[in-house]
Amino acid sequence: MNCAGKSALIAGGLGGIGLATCNSLLRKGVKNLRIFDIIENPQKLKGLTSTYPKANVKFCKVDATKKYEIDNGFKTVLSDFKSVDIFVTCVGVVDEMHIERCIEINLLSAIYLNYAALEYMSNSKGGNGGIVANIASVAGVAPFPACVVYAATKHGVLGLTRSLGTNTYFKKTGIKFITICPGYTTTPLLNQFNGSPINDIKKIRDSPQQSPEICGDLLVEAIEKDMNGSIWLIDEGKLKEVTPPKL
Ligand SMILES: NC(=O)c1ccc[n+]([C@@H]2O[C@H](COP(=O)([O-])OP(=O)(O)OC[C@H]3O[C@@H](n4cnc5c(N)ncnc54)[C@H](O)[C@@H]3O)[C@@H](O)[C@H]2O)c1
Repeated sequence: MNCAGKSALIAGGLGGIGLATCNSLLRKGVKNLRIFDIIENPQKLKGLTSTYPKANVKFCKVDATKKYEIDNGFKTVLSDFKSVDIFVTCVGVVDEMHIERCIEINLLSAIYLNYAALEYMSNSKGGNGGIVANIASVAGVAPFPACVVYAATKHGVLGLTRSLGTNTYFKKTGIKFITICPGYTTTPLLNQFNGSPINDIKKIRDSPQQSPEICGDLLVEAIEKDMNGSIWLIDEGKLKEVTPPKL
């Protein structure tokens, strides 16, 4: 997909990778950009609007674990611009101490956001189709012993996205679904780890870490490749397609 002139929505868009993705999309010429996040940050928003004065960039406070807030958010977006062509979901936490919270924010919200995409982007329901990029993690394709609940949620995001990224849905909706699996990226998320009740690991930060800016640029590169059902590893500043065995 060519991003120029398109309309994009980024959930979790004021986080490290989310904001970097907003910048990358705007640099590529996205015309309308709406950000959903649970935390407002006028300074970050101002950074975007002043750097890209010609683009229509706005924020909408949405808790992605609340279905009705996502629905209301989408309705507000569609009253401002006619369609969402690119939808990136970057919502996430690390919280092994609160299992339900980790599942709710990482997996349940991803399911709600993707169901909303089917409702509001499908060409069978008045949308234009488009592309949804869900951020899972390297921990969605490989073991992550420090954070087993986080890994379980990210494997869930991968399963959700791969299942939606099939012809069954594409034929009905015109929407492509891709999974993005970043490795260690320097964002506030890496500082959230406060232990686990089942291991003695003290920190999950590891080196080397890539910058969120590189991650955002490569994420947009994966979007441009426009391959339904594809899985992209973004690690150590490199983009690589992951091809699981065909069963
Ligand atoms: N940083 C890494 O090393 C890394 C690696 C692999 C995957 N990821 C994934 O990338 C995504 C982005 O993470 P990040 O590293 O930018 O972290 P981050 O903490 O900077 O960003 C996460 C964003 O999600 C938002 N958020 C949290 N709960 C929310 C909710 N209920 N509703 C709406 N927004 C909510 C936060 O406010 C924040 O802006 C996450 O899914 C994360 O799991 C990160």
